[in-house]
Amino acid sequence: MARITASVYTSHVPAIGAAIDLGKTTEPYWVPLFKGYEFSKQWMKEHQPDVIFLVYNDHATAFSLEIIPTFAIGTAAEFMPADEGYGARPVPKVIGHPDLASHIAQSVIQDDFDLTIVNKMDVDHGLTVPLSLMCGQPQAWPCPVIPFAVNVVQYPVPSGRRCFMLGQAIRRAIESYDAPLNVQIWGTGGMSHQLQGPRAGLINAAWDNRFLDRLIADPEDLSKMPHIDYVREAGSEGIELVMWLIARGAMADVAGGPKPKVAHRFFHVPASNTAVGHLILENT
Ligand code: DHB
Ligand code: FE
Repeated sequence: MARITASVYTSHVPAIGAAIDLGKTTEPYWVPLFKGYEFSKQWMKEHQPDVIFLVYNDHATAFSLEIIPTFAIGTAAEFMPADEGYGARPVPKVIGHPDLASHIAQSVIQDDFDLTIVNKMDVDHGLTVPLSLMCGQPQAWPCPVIPFAVNVVQYPVPSGRRCFMLGQAIRRAIESYDAPLNVQIWGTGGMSHQLQGPRAGLINAAWDNRFLDRLIADPEDLSKMPHIDYVREAGSEGIELVMWLIARGAMADVAGGPKPKVAHRFFHVPASNTAVGHLILENT
């Protein structure tokens, strides 16, 4: 059967993608940020997954106000990097895993979560920047990726509690897939940031670090936090953090197994307008 071996959490700031693509990673502004991901790139080489289930949010790129799926699973064979206004990032296309994605859709929908099935979709910085941070600049991404898009852009957004429960259903789905695949689940977006309005530029590093502590130690309790707390404390775009609860809900300890090992933890302020947080948790 397939297994979830680890979960990875990281911010997805688009300026990070631009810094990589334009060769600016050694500029003083960016050096401390990329230093925090050196361990992670090495770790990825040593813990090569067969598939990445990548929870991210679309930023009005693939979806618009015309159709707003709360949870959307990418079942296509491939996904092209999107043009977000400056041309598509010069990164490899994303190869999907239609068979596992379809199995997860079947299992999770029968487990009472309504997913939108997406057979054609471009993927924006929400998905490609985490891949770049973890994998560098390869000719091809190291494995197939199942994109899983969560609406955290247009209200109403899903609660942390529902995201956490969905992660548990995704774990059941993956572990009932009849092939010995090593699957990583990634939760992306966050941490505190606000891009608009009078509070634009808001960052709350103390709150972010407390979120990381609670995500590691007691995600069930963290999942009860109402969405308004994210917005008040972490800014309007801080709500992206609910996606981390999907990945955390898929870890073994939530289903009664052993606590995960914290392989890596990193926090840096700022990158563009955003506090950057990053965790790697291994199932033991
Ligand atoms: C920024 C952060 C985001 O999460 C995003 O989607 C766009 C921009 C920023 O900090 O600039
Ligand atoms: Fe974002």
